[in-house]
Amino acid sequence: MSVRHLLGVRRLDTIQIQELIEVSAEFRRRMKAGEALPQFPGKVAGLLFFEGSTRTRVSFERAAFALGIQVTNFTGQGSSMAKGETLRDTILTLRQELLDTIVVRHPSCGSPQLVADFFRRPVINAGDGEHEHPTQALGDALTILLRKGRIQGLTVAIVGDVMHSRVARSNAWLLSKLGAKVRFVGPNTLLPSNCALLPGEPYFKLSEGLEGADVVMCLRLQKERMAQGLLSSIGEYRRLYQVNERTLRPAAKDVIVMHPGPINRGVELDDATADGPRSVILDQVESAVYTRAAVLFWALGGDPDAVLDGATSVFEEAEA
Ligand code: NCD
Repeated sequence: MSVRHLLGVRRLDTIQIQELIEVSAEFRRRMKAGEALPQFPGKVAGLLFFEGSTRTRVSFERAAFALGIQVTNFTGQGSSMAKGETLRDTILTLRQELLDTIVVRHPSCGSPQLVADFFRRPVINAGDGEHEHPTQALGDALTILLRKGRIQGLTVAIVGDVMHSRVARSNAWLLSKLGAKVRFVGPNTLLPSNCALLPGEPYFKLSEGLEGADVVMCLRLQKERMAQGLLSSIGEYRRLYQVNERTLRPAAKDVIVMHPGPINRGVELDDATADGPRSVILDQVESAVYTRAAVLFWALGGDPDAVLDGATSVFEEAEA
């Protein structure tokens, strides 16, 4: 069996994506019913986070605990990397220390591939630069399915700083593979210059981008990745692109509003919408726990067929 890495969703096929979402939904059912998940006694996961994280790191830990996997955390700070050790030497060290899998977040696009090349055991990408954040997209798809009953045929508007967002890229690949129509909405300076290479249509006016949308996915303005001059002012961005009760009017009546967090409250999203009935932001946080459990299970060699035997499909349940 080849090593099971999850480095991105772009290269996953629809069947694999659906299977991981089905396992996530079944783990959700079991955890809510107080039933145990499959156990991996003696397995150890290394969580390597070279960038800040609240949701992603804690949810990977929570998911690992549910599967009986021990975790060890590594942040770079306080390690030999602070003394100048390379990523390659760090990974070779962790391999020799018998870690079974590595979950990695890193500011450089493509670094999880490098980790995979040296580690040669399963590697899960927890966000690499502007590139991909596959477990976020899988969790978001589960959230949409649970709320809307389907993904096929939905119009999803991804709004804001698409250029710097790995969440936008992974979601665009994943949702379009599952049959959604994806729009990228934002100022010209914050939409990728190679938009045509991504599976989505660009919209520069918020009202046009949100027209008839079933799902509005807001993004955080990634100030830490932004070159000077991309935004004339936060005030102007707020005026033209903030998602709020007024700007949501052209969207579908039963639109849901998403945000991967952390939110710049009052900038990309206002409080009333973030905390209102259309918001599924906290559901996204919860779904990600089930999804990360599904991905850890799969990466460590778990058999999805054994978990799904007799389970109701979240896709078919949705159609019924
Ligand atoms: C995002 C990330 O780090 O990519 N957060 C997350 O994982 N939920 C989004 C962001 O930082 O804006």
